[in-house]
Amino acid sequence: MKFFIDTANLAQIKEAHDLGILDGVTTNPSLMAKEGIKGHAAIMDHYKAICEITDGPVSAEVFGTTFEEIVEEGKVLAAIHDNIVVKVPMIKDGIKAIKWFSDNGIQTNCTLVFSAGQAILAAKAGASFVSPFIGRIDDSSWDGVQLIEQIVNIYNSQGFMTEVLAASIRNPLHIVRCAEAGADVCTCPLSSILGLLKHPLTDLGLEQFLKDAKTMAH
Ligand code: G3P
Repeated sequence: MKFFIDTANLAQIKEAHDLGILDGVTTNPSLMAKEGIKGHAAIMDHYKAICEITDGPVSAEVFGTTFEEIVEEGKVLAAIHDNIVVKVPMIKDGIKAIKWFSDNGIQTNCTLVFSAGQAILAAKAGASFVSPFIGRIDDSSWDGVQLIEQIVNIYNSQGFMTEVLAASIRNPLHIVRCAEAGADVCTCPLSSILGLLKHPLTDLGLEQFLKDAKTMAH
């Protein structure tokens, strides 16, 4: 399973990259706004800066909702860097635009996916990635990971090439369960990635090893 980081924060992207485990980045308008980015030029520069940190795919979301707007914006975003993946919402014109991008060699990430039916449509349109939001599904007392499992099974049995990108990850257990469910990619906040490191027995064991190592020093 690939690890993407779900943030537009350059320091966090660099920290995950420096760990050596980062395969890509996803952003969305909320994450970009959180970094205080304002205006077209600043948005373009920020995506460029992200692409300079990672060698992997970088999802950049369109703001438009009509086919024409999505295609125009997507072309501009895709021109920033070869690694830009145009993130398109799961709406009728979005599906039409994803098909257009796929026919024209532009990578896409279909976002705001909450059902298997939506995931089938995204794959039929030729999306490179599909993003089911598992945390937001859990927030409504449904099972987000179960949806990942269902989509993975459908894509495998139907031979769809779209990668299942588990999004809206809220904790390390989400990452583990998405790996079990066969997700191709997990896009996570840095805190969830670092949470994978934690186990009290590791801390206690290391403390003892270091203590014993000292006795051997002289
Ligand atoms: O990038 C989309 C997704 O990961 C959003 O997550 O936590 O806002 O539901 P969240």
